[in-house]
Amino acid sequence: MNIRNFSIIAHIDAGKSTLADRLLELTGTVSTRQMKEQLLDSNPIERERGITIKLAPVTMKYKDPSGSYILNLIDTPGHVDFNYEVERALQACEAAILLIDATKGVQAQTIANLRLAKKQNLKVIPAINKIDSPLSNVSASTKQLQSLLGDDYIEPTLISAKTGENVDKLLEVVIKLCPPPETSTSDNPLKALVFNSIYHPHLGAIAFVRLFQGSINKNIPLKFLSSNIKFTPAEFGTFTPGRTPQDTLTSGDVGYIVTGFKDIRLIKVGDTITLNQKEAIQSLPGYREIKPNVYQDIFPTDNSKYHDLLDALEKLKLNDSSLTTEPTSSLVLGQGVKVGFLGLLHAEVVTERLEREFDVPVIGISPTVEYRADLKTGETVSFSSASTFPDPSKVKTTLEPFATVQIITPEEYLGAVMNLAQNIRGQLLEMTYLDKLVQLNYSIPLIEVITSLHDQLKSVSSGFASLDYQLSGWQPAKLVKLSVLLNHDEFEPFSLICIESEAQAKAKNLSKKLKEAIPRQQFEVPIQVALGGKIIARETVRSFRKDVTAKLYGGDATRRKKLLEKQKKGKKRMKQFGSVQLPQEAFLATLK
Ligand code: GTP
Repeated sequence: MNIRNFSIIAHIDAGKSTLADRLLELTGTVSTRQMKEQLLDSNPIERERGITIKLAPVTMKYKDPSGSYILNLIDTPGHVDFNYEVERALQACEAAILLIDATKGVQAQTIANLRLAKKQNLKVIPAINKIDSPLSNVSASTKQLQSLLGDDYIEPTLISAKTGENVDKLLEVVIKLCPPPETSTSDNPLKALVFNSIYHPHLGAIAFVRLFQGSINKNIPLKFLSSNIKFTPAEFGTFTPGRTPQDTLTSGDVGYIVTGFKDIRLIKVGDTITLNQKEAIQSLPGYREIKPNVYQDIFPTDNSKYHDLLDALEKLKLNDSSLTTEPTSSLVLGQGVKVGFLGLLHAEVVTERLEREFDVPVIGISPTVEYRADLKTGETVSFSSASTFPDPSKVKTTLEPFATVQIITPEEYLGAVMNLAQNIRGQLLEMTYLDKLVQLNYSIPLIEVITSLHDQLKSVSSGFASLDYQLSGWQPAKLVKLSVLLNHDEFEPFSLICIESEAQAKAKNLSKKLKEAIPRQQFEVPIQVALGGKIIARETVRSFRKDVTAKLYGGDATRRKKLLEKQKKGKKRMKQFGSVQLPQEAFLATLK
């Protein structure tokens, strides 16, 4: 069969989306004129930030002297927050192009994604990208690749996704090395793996599928094997890259099925679709369930928008099954939602979308992880915010989540990286050399991984070190709650959970950060941080001295209008608490 199903895997920013663009051009799927940069990144935030969040499949046709081919490419995200999307994509493929950035060499996600590809028994096709860049070091990248792939090493194709150099060669290699899907007779009952789902405002829920046997024809009723939900598709087809309806889809194809469901939750990603009349006996191996790593309580800046916030989150959940929500409330911030995210980038993207697409500006309080406590009664409880910290007199042991972290760094930054890991309570598990790179395995508290490791690692290694992590379990840790008092009243949203030995330093840092972030008010605002009723740090925000509105007078009218506009915008982001006004930045101060 002349079908090739493959994916591109790499570390973030290695150039996957750029390569996908070149492949679309080369195969004439999209003309150069129609090509907007990074076509498969369709979400505006993805495009703006140059990151891929959702996987995107596309079907391309290609002819070469050996024949005509149908190439199904599934573009995948590179950031660790969205790793589960890669896992899903790979199950729909027979091969993966392993793309390495020649200016950076092998990076943490290169290894993590390679591991995923091997677990699925995919053919790995290495390529080294950015050879046009003066910063590229092809021989170092090749050596690292050699030690990484060991016996599976094959010579990488050297390409520039930017200029298009050798991209045609890479395509030839894919056609040669990517195994075609296993052929099966059309008598076999249909088995289609649902690897993604999206919600379309007019068509309803759409399933992205890869057929492993059998076929789909018009007007034939189908059903989901595990949930037994039946439906007759309103439309099915392939992505080229927009939806293109087809009369039939057969084994090996990648495409979509419009289910007609108004509720996307009826599509369980990982389920198998089969025929209603002649069902497949065994379903395809599904997916592991993904759980959020980080929780954040978010509140609308305008309390009357609470229901809009709920609606907006429900809409976002339609296309993002990894988001979890649960109502929460706070004495000072009112009604809000505790949202579970995959990581901080995910949290940032979602809050940005709430504001931009749904016009619901929110205040997010310091992100936390899922802590646990063994109580004296023998019961174990979970809590993920300082406000739900269990009564210390009832607690036997508190536990905090840890992650296994893989860091890859060039040798010259090894000392700095190890120092950093030690400072955030990391325990070194393993260290291996990969040519001039070092791979370090650490056990580090998840909260540190999420809130500080990423940025600090980038800064101590000038951007050269990279990381990947997985939750490894809960370990005993002496946790305490730090409470913040503003103007002598407890201000619960600023409270945080930390380990006892760091409480003093954290309290000092927190009060300092809050002092910087809280603007001067009409009166003095004392900031106090307390541990178990005892004040352990304090700062004061002094009152105004001069009239800030003075600069509104005089000057020309447009300038005045601009200033007023600016003030209005600023106001929107400020929230009044009792007598104190706080900007969103104050809430972020508790983060670092
Ligand atoms: P994620 O989707 O976020 O995982 O990133 P990606 O791997 O898709 O990377 P993307 O295609 O967005 O490229 C990242 C950056 O590298 C962009 O600024 C590209 O312009 C640049 N880039 C990609 N390929 C090349 C290349 O061959 N040469 C040079 N010099 N730059 C490249």
